[in-house]
Amino acid sequence: MSRRAAITGWGKCVPPVSLSNADLEQLMDTSDEWIVERTGISNRQLSHVETTDLAELAARRALACSGMNAEEIDLVVVATCTPEILCPSVAAMIQDRIGATNAGAFDLNAACSGFVYGTSVVAGMIESGFVDNVLLVGAEKLHFAMDYRDRGTAILFGDGAGAAVFEPSEDGAGVLAVDLGADGGKGGTMLIRSMGSMGEPSPTNDPAIHRLHFEGQAVFKIAVQGISASANRVLELAGLTADDVDLVVPHQANARIIDSATRRLGIDKDRVFVNIGSLGNTAAASIPMAISDALDAGRVSPGDTVVLTAFGGGVTWGSIALTWGDRTEPAGVHEGELPPTDMTCFDLLQDNLDFFAPLHADDPPVP
Ligand code: UT7
Repeated sequence: MSRRAAITGWGKCVPPVSLSNADLEQLMDTSDEWIVERTGISNRQLSHVETTDLAELAARRALACSGMNAEEIDLVVVATCTPEILCPSVAAMIQDRIGATNAGAFDLNAACSGFVYGTSVVAGMIESGFVDNVLLVGAEKLHFAMDYRDRGTAILFGDGAGAAVFEPSEDGAGVLAVDLGADGGKGGTMLIRSMGSMGEPSPTNDPAIHRLHFEGQAVFKIAVQGISASANRVLELAGLTADDVDLVVPHQANARIIDSATRRLGIDKDRVFVNIGSLGNTAAASIPMAISDALDAGRVSPGDTVVLTAFGGGVTWGSIALTWGDRTEPAGVHEGELPPTDMTCFDLLQDNLDFFAPLHADDPPVP
């Protein structure tokens, strides 16, 4: 058997502050009915701490789940498009915090496709023998870039982190095939400009530049086509058909996108994992959080064929076909928690509301 990269640990960090559709009704002209029907989302969670704090807890939980010590990790990779600072990377901060003293560390940005891109990098590094054990984290604090009076974007996104530990396997388990793609020409459909180095120093002072720019309908079409074509390609590369798939774990962007894309693939709903209802779209964190929830829900069995598939800013897309290994129960549990908070979602969003207020000076009041 050839050497493959198998997931042997998984974990997630869900921040504690809820933002329900009823809460959003108080901030913008929207309704629970509209949001649920168009997106499948009822709630999202918001972070009172930084991206690295979310990533660290998910990483510690995945590590405990794998039964491995931090010193055994050779590489820490974090997929994120919302690091709290650009340098040092979130991965380097985690490497230090968890004591992964023998590991290299870097961040990777493919927006919502980040965990799939990360898995492809990790799998290549493990298969080549350059590294053995890798911690891959997807973490986002997306609410930072949200204008909570912009009903076309802010309803979708939540914060969170998920992580996986990958180990070499010689028994057939692990990543079978990878498909990656991008179309930078359509990059303008999803923009977070303020965290880059474009323009004058301190562009973040301008709310019009800071907020997420997002062309929902254009993205919707790219997503449905991109996900189904990419998942088809990865199955072909792995020598599999849709009938062989036990579970698809898609990026949780919008329940309608997931439905349309998996219908095109010919995969029925009971073989698709969806947790968007309670968490919203958490970009690079969505797939590892969904993997963790799928394991907790008993939806993954040893030897299952699992497909991960995503699309996101860039635009980017990608899919992974893998065979799950023997482990479907955690080897251990990390008991740590985030620091507690008694903030409500309105307390937490007040800074956003104040910052973006100048863009809405002429808006009619929320009905
Ligand atoms: O992870 C990658 C990132 N993103 C995605 O995957 C999201 C992709 N896109 C989408 O999920 C959808 O395009 C949205 C959920 C963003 C929007 O849904 P849609 O079905 O494409 O709605 P629409 O933009 O065509 O708007 C339809 C109507 C419009 O009203 P009019 O012009 O027909 O009177 C909107 O103004 O719905 C209105 N609308 C809303 N109404 C209530 C838009 N947002 C809302 C809202 N509440 N939150």
